[in-house]
Amino acid sequence: MSKMYTERRQKLQEQLDKGLVLFLGNEESPMNYADNTYHFRQDSTFLYFSGIDRPGLALLADLENGEWTLFGNDLTADDIVWTGQLPSIKEYANQAGIKKTAPLADLKAILEVATKQGRQVNFLPPYRDEHMRKLCQLGIKGVGASVPLITAVSELRICKSSYEIAEIEKAVETSLQMHLTAMSMARPGMTEAQIMAKVTEIALAGGGLAFPVIATINGHVLHNHHYENVLKSGQLFLLDAGAETDTHYAGDLSSTFPVDSTFTQRQKDIYDIMLGSFLLAVDALKPGINFVDIHLQAAKKIAEGLKDLGLMKGDVEDAVAQGAHALFFPCGLGHLMGLDVHDMENLGEVYFGYEGRPKSTQFGLKSLRLGRKLKEGFVLTVEPGIYFMPELIDMWKAEGRHKDFINYDAVEAYRNFSGLRIEEDFVITATGSRRLGSPKPRTVEEVTAIRKG
Ligand code: GLY
Ligand code: MN
Repeated sequence: MSKMYTERRQKLQEQLDKGLVLFLGNEESPMNYADNTYHFRQDSTFLYFSGIDRPGLALLADLENGEWTLFGNDLTADDIVWTGQLPSIKEYANQAGIKKTAPLADLKAILEVATKQGRQVNFLPPYRDEHMRKLCQLGIKGVGASVPLITAVSELRICKSSYEIAEIEKAVETSLQMHLTAMSMARPGMTEAQIMAKVTEIALAGGGLAFPVIATINGHVLHNHHYENVLKSGQLFLLDAGAETDTHYAGDLSSTFPVDSTFTQRQKDIYDIMLGSFLLAVDALKPGINFVDIHLQAAKKIAEGLKDLGLMKGDVEDAVAQGAHALFFPCGLGHLMGLDVHDMENLGEVYFGYEGRPKSTQFGLKSLRLGRKLKEGFVLTVEPGIYFMPELIDMWKAEGRHKDFINYDAVEAYRNFSGLRIEEDFVITATGSRRLGSPKPRTVEEVTAIRKG
């Protein structure tokens, strides 16, 4: 493994010329007092270049002499009483192929010398308060994150190696087990929490959760993290859940199924529109095509289906161009996936997702996290959904927004429909794409078959 990390660091160095690069590892994060912490999650870029999964570290590269140093403190006797023995900093460095180590206290002085010599200290955008504080304490205040570093890191991380694809596929297989289990077990009278607990158990046995589970009868709330409802006959249930491996590569799947064993006709109609959009998008995946174009094709397919049902009207091309479909599909079609479930989102979507170009500001399209031409090795999700949000419907209706494209009277009958989403994960190949993991029930028939058990 140390060879893989050494090669990754070497490739980064080749893309940058001078100065220093500082990667801060993550810290433990207190929940309600210092020693009672949230689950520790290492920073994904730190993992990418070192694989070291331990809090309280920093990695510094001198781009002029190619020297990398791991900064960290070995455990004291007091620490060991609580944590047990862990590898030393030197041992961690060896595992990552890093030759030099130093105590954390040395970092500030080294950075001060470099800064006095007028050398640039490159760092990534901090997304935790403690990192902002650390940068200030290290004397790197007042300087923004380095765009050349963001670009170099994201271009390295964006195309996955065969090792990474295999890790992601493992995560997807565990995620699939979570979904198959939920689809088999859900019954009227159960709570959302019972299903959340069961799928979490499966993820924890495999490595961990890639993100907080969405297990809900209110699928129209996109990131719904409440689990207090009781499942009732006639409702739809939406599960959006994924595992990560012990190396922290993610999987991310979504399924929607009836709380009963079969869909109602109305649920089937909307499900089939969503599935049509999903299949069209999956078919379009290949190198060279811009993901924005696939998103728009998927949106048109949804708008066509909703027009056939009488919920939308007018010219579908115009409706989508103006963003009218976003009443029902207010988010993006998918996102990159890797060491983060939304891969590299902390680096800034505009850089890794749009190659520095500005994103659309249109409601709906502005939430698309990927807007560039696909390349072999990209791993991404395809996750169209159709959502009926009573609050949004009321707001738009009151404003008369897109009234030439939306039949608000017909939509009224769906205000309590909730929402549905389907999601699978794909790798872009030389000629198209490949679904990661074993097949997941997709069609109404396949979903019904597992529900009937
Ligand atoms: N699975 C959560 C998301 O994609 O936002
Ligand atoms: Mn997703």
